[in-house]
Amino acid sequence: MILIEFESVTKHYQLGEIEVIALDNVNFTVRRGDFVAITGPSGSGKTTMLNLIGCLDSPTSGEIRVLGQPVTCLDEKALDTLRSRTYGIVFQSFNLVPVLTALENVALPLHLHSLKSSEIRERALAALCSVGLGRFADFRPDQLSGGQRQRVAVARALVTKPKLILADEPTASLDTASALSLVELMKQLSAEQGVTFVFSTHDQRLLQHVRRVVELRDGSLSTIREIQPSAEQQQAGQSEVA
Ligand SMILES: Nc1ncnc2c1ncn2[C@@H]1O[C@H](COP(=O)(O)OP(=O)(O)OP(=O)(O)O)[C@@H](O)[C@H]1O
Ligand SMILES: [Mg+2]
Repeated sequence: MILIEFESVTKHYQLGEIEVIALDNVNFTVRRGDFVAITGPSGSGKTTMLNLIGCLDSPTSGEIRVLGQPVTCLDEKALDTLRSRTYGIVFQSFNLVPVLTALENVALPLHLHSLKSSEIRERALAALCSVGLGRFADFRPDQLSGGQRQRVAVARALVTKPKLILADEPTASLDTASALSLVELMKQLSAEQGVTFVFSTHDQRLLQHVRRVVELRDGSLSTIREIQPSAEQQQAGQSEVA
């Protein structure tokens, strides 16, 4: 199933007299279960692309389809609904609320849905356990390491069972060991639960661990590696998300 399609997408920004071409005629597809890293130097358009995938911004020209639906013709209300049903977002700097525990942070997005408080707690705890942090449920962010905080952020993105998790430089604030362990966690969630991830990174060491890597250079996109998943992996992903 195709989640996201970019067809000849461009994004220009006007900076005074200068027109910046952030994305230049980009074609790109994300299927359910994909695990995609977007790489490229600073200023190459990674954040611009993630914002467009997440419908947080609109293209200058071209078409973006989410679940087959062209998004350029949706109004703000329809976009809001689409965003809340489709995406989980992991920010570079975690964005956890310092006075809340790990469990309460993970539970936050569920308060927008009409759920019983016992169900909210149960789902938040399950998400925390799936990132290996069940026993840290009552810890506040300042009592956790950077790697653990980013895992809490992944759990918070997962908790609403989104179709796609977007992460802009999720490992940028982490040391190498924590960064590698976060990528391994995302791969595991992708393989075992069929979660779809699209994330950006500068870090070449991480890219060795990713099957599909696309690169932006001056707004143009090219694929630098694409290893198809094995039949078993495809089946595991499909049966989990069906
Ligand atoms: N709101 C904006 N207004 C004007 N220009 C912008 C805006 N956002 C991004 N740009 C420009 O678009 C280009 C792409 O920026 P973008 O933030 O997508 O790059 P990036 O690859 O995410 O960089 P980094 O690795 O530093 O985060 C840059 O030249 C940037 O200056
Ligand atoms: Mg960026």
